[in-house]
Amino acid sequence: MILDATEENLLRAVAELRAGNCVAFPTETVYGLGADARRPSALARIYALKGRPPTNPLIVHVPELSRISEVAETAPYTAHLEALSTLWPGPLTVVLPRKSSIPAIVSGGGDTVGVRIPSHPIAQRLLQLADIPIAAPSANRSKRVSPTTALHVAQEFGENVSCVIDGGACPVGIESTVLSLVTPLPTILRPGSVTASQLEAILGPVQHLSSLTLSSPQPLPSPGLLTEHYAPRTTTKLWSRGEPAPTAARWGIITQSTEPPEIRGYSIHRSLSPGGELHVVARNLFATLRFMDDQGLDLIVVERCREEGIGVAIMDRLKRASAREGN
Ligand code: TXA
Ligand code: MG
Repeated sequence: MILDATEENLLRAVAELRAGNCVAFPTETVYGLGADARRPSALARIYALKGRPPTNPLIVHVPELSRISEVAETAPYTAHLEALSTLWPGPLTVVLPRKSSIPAIVSGGGDTVGVRIPSHPIAQRLLQLADIPIAAPSANRSKRVSPTTALHVAQEFGENVSCVIDGGACPVGIESTVLSLVTPLPTILRPGSVTASQLEAILGPVQHLSSLTLSSPQPLPSPGLLTEHYAPRTTTKLWSRGEPAPTAARWGIITQSTEPPEIRGYSIHRSLSPGGELHVVARNLFATLRFMDDQGLDLIVVERCREEGIGVAIMDRLKRASAREGN
């Protein structure tokens, strides 16, 4: 059931969380499917609802920096965490050693935990009222496109999630940057709107997971991130201006700006932003992919964007969306 974000409904969500149930709520990035991070049975529900492999860890949300130590071992990382505080609350998740009081199921069986301090006022209020750490992956079925509205969440889970708090459309639109602090050099496991250059300005050199290879001497910090796709059901292909039109019977095209594509033959055209502004592109990306996916097309064509700033994260999601075998 979709509920307005009134204080009364937030208290209802808190009661659900305390009872060990899952509730969906908005964050500045995407909607999350939350549960009490201290209760293995509640966490097992998240994995079951999402159809998520048990080895893929969950992100734990806390309201402020001082609360990270409730879920993670912070002592060796105090300097890094203090330095990163200029980016919090906000779309940055850090991976730290998991505190033994937090169940291993959060970590997909490993010994680290991803922690995030969301800035969205509804997520903040929920965390404050609940006064517990909330584990919340994106509120979509495993490997599907993340939800950026309450309606998307309801479409993913129907009545299986009893409470979806409606906060309108998520302002950032793509998932948080995930940064591991437990690797010899801080490592970006997932690009997001907090960019590599922002992190490097604060922490010094930062490594990128995509630059690590499978023959790398160190174990990969998050194998799931390499294989997980965020894909529409419809086959999706990337395209740049100057490339030929596809041969599919009925296809739609998503462009970065309102400039019409010069290729012909498409059934539907949607643009992600007026002039290719990357923050607007990110905000509209998942909703537009979902819209196209509902049109009964044979193919979705998406124009590539420039890989700079948040464009790195946008292209990461687009490459995954188009990576399914046969695409
Ligand atoms: O923006 C976000 O981060 C959203 C909102 C709801 O906060 N959450 C989100 O969660 O995107 P999820 O579970 O859909 O994606 C988290 C990603 C996964 O790919 C997971 O493998 C990685 O972060 N991750 C989480 N904990 C980790 C850990 N301890 N070590 C390595 N990777 C981790
Ligand atoms: Mg996800």
